[in-house]
Amino acid sequence: MQMVNQTDWKPRIVAFCCNWCSYAGADLAGSGRLSYPAEIKIVRVPCSCRVNPLFILRAFERGADGVILCGCHPGDCHYTSGNYYARRRMALLFSMLDYLGIERQRTRVEWVSAAEGAKFAATMNDFAKTITELGENRKLGDLRCKP
Ligand code: FES
Repeated sequence: MQMVNQTDWKPRIVAFCCNWCSYAGADLAGSGRLSYPAEIKIVRVPCSCRVNPLFILRAFERGADGVILCGCHPGDCHYTSGNYYARRRMALLFSMLDYLGIERQRTRVEWVSAAEGAKFAATMNDFAKTITELGENRKLGDLRCKP
């Protein structure tokens, strides 16, 4: 068994970003040379409503310590109302996480526009800090997915 030094531990974070705003915000953060942790793996989706809550549970099963969903600001969705659907689904997911015993802070919903590169970087840094404080997620992990 490989021993991991606690100080070397870095959280594994998945960020679902909608193509039209949040992903462009991430791009802007990159081109503005704003830094955020490399452990955050961005998954580009057409709209925040494309993210089925089961994707988030699956990410936890596969070893994610935190999952964040980013989309356009309410009223700005490229598909008119996709982010409203996403917001409702996430509210249901939050109560399900309570039921499953997973800390609610391990998931977050943020609205980041294409012009908010600084907000994107700040949000990711803050989320990574929260997940680092919470430590490794031991709930829901599929042992077959452990490295
Ligand atoms: Fe961004 Fe719908 S296109 S949330």
